[in-house]
Amino acid sequence: MRQTSEIGVGLLGLGVVGSGVARMLAEKSAQISRLTGGPVVLKQALVRDPSKQRDFQPPQEIVTSRAEDVLDSPGIDIIVEVMGGQNPALDLILRAVSLGKHVVTANKEVMARHGLDILDGANKAGIHVRFEASVGGGIPVIGPLMRDLLANDVTGIHAIINGTTNYILTEMSRSGADFDDALRDAQRLGYAEADPADDIEGTDAAYKLTILSTLAFQARFKESDVYREGITRLTARDFLYARELGYAVKLMALARKVDGCVQLRVHPALVPTSAAMARVDGVFNAVQIETDLAGPILLHGRGAGSYPTASAVLADVLHIAQSIRGGVGPQETFSLSDNIRVTPMSELETMYYLRLNVADRSGVFARIATILGQLDISIASVIQKGVDRKAAEVVLMTHRAREESMQEAIRRLEALDVVHEFGNMIRVEELEN
Ligand code: NAP
Ligand code: HSE
Repeated sequence: MRQTSEIGVGLLGLGVVGSGVARMLAEKSAQISRLTGGPVVLKQALVRDPSKQRDFQPPQEIVTSRAEDVLDSPGIDIIVEVMGGQNPALDLILRAVSLGKHVVTANKEVMARHGLDILDGANKAGIHVRFEASVGGGIPVIGPLMRDLLANDVTGIHAIINGTTNYILTEMSRSGADFDDALRDAQRLGYAEADPADDIEGTDAAYKLTILSTLAFQARFKESDVYREGITRLTARDFLYARELGYAVKLMALARKVDGCVQLRVHPALVPTSAAMARVDGVFNAVQIETDLAGPILLHGRGAGSYPTASAVLADVLHIAQSIRGGVGPQETFSLSDNIRVTPMSELETMYYLRLNVADRSGVFARIATILGQLDISIASVIQKGVDRKAAEVVLMTHRAREESMQEAIRRLEALDVVHEFGNMIRVEELEN
């Protein structure tokens, strides 16, 4: 490899991820230099507040609150965007591309919404844009989809791709932790988004599923194509009953291609405790990719946190540095197949868990069963728990039924005078392994 003078890195953001990247550029400088043929050096870091105390403090003179100090610096070859959010991150990425700077980003929102246009612009400009850290933290998943699995037809993705919610669900399930306490822990550990509503409402996972599905099915998807439900309706009792029935509760991201149509959804799901996904706990993520040639591929690792994410960011930086020094332009072109229809959620067929608080008297269950029967929803099993002398909690598992029928059943059940409260509906995913 040709030895050249140093390659300059400009960081946009010096928070959880940016600090990890800055620290590792310094601490692993000898290894990075050996792998890329010369030094790769942090030149400038953009922050909102330069006076803030940070986990890793680069020399104060390279910390700035002026974006132009980073973008316009002639010594900076690679811009690393780890500030998050749509704007100004998108503007800064586009400006970097227009200035001919290579870009590495961890920003799933920007890549889900504008990734294809950014990649198109980058290809035309002959520069690299890489985004491994945008999905799955430290798990290599963008690389495998863009390169290693290219010869395959992907038929499905089953994934846990939000570390914050998986951490919260694991804590609630294992130790009965309170939702708010578990969320606070996830924030303290640096897993959560700046606005944690993005995590707990499933938005972050929907962005990530949009990115994965676009790459896997080579079609243009929007984040609004992904049906989305978060974890806020789940209660301690759902975890208890799920366990009793042989299931774990996970926020699943699911993409399935059937007859040229793709189903895209993020929602809590009951998964059998025997399935690999049920054992993905805490901040760990897992992505199972179903392929025609290689069969199922399961990728598992830490899905958030400073160093796992810095690992993915740095791998992208090092690949770009190797390409710059090797005089190699971007080699990945990305071509889209014809438009693929996104299956409406109403057409989904799956099994369901229902929890209802009902009057504890004769004839109540018959009325519930009648409504379900009218809508062709067949009951697989029932658990009834006494709540007090007047109320009981009924937990129903159904056989496969259509989502639109289930939604209508919920409307009718909620209207019944004997139903005090419709507790929850959770879809059941009978994952095989
Ligand atoms: P963070 O801790 O909130 O850090 C954001 C950094 O960007 C801070 O240094 C902040 O400056 C700076 N910043 C934000 N808005 C700015 C603005 N308008 N102008 C100047 N500087 C600005 O966020 P993070 O957790 O590192 O996440 C960064 C990105 O990585 C996000 O896109 C996130 O989704 C993604 N990501 C995060 C993880 C993770 O585990 N945390 C994993 C994978 C991907 P101040 O420090 O002065 O406030
Ligand atoms: N907030 C995200 C998560 C960070 O919890 O998964 C990693 O993308």
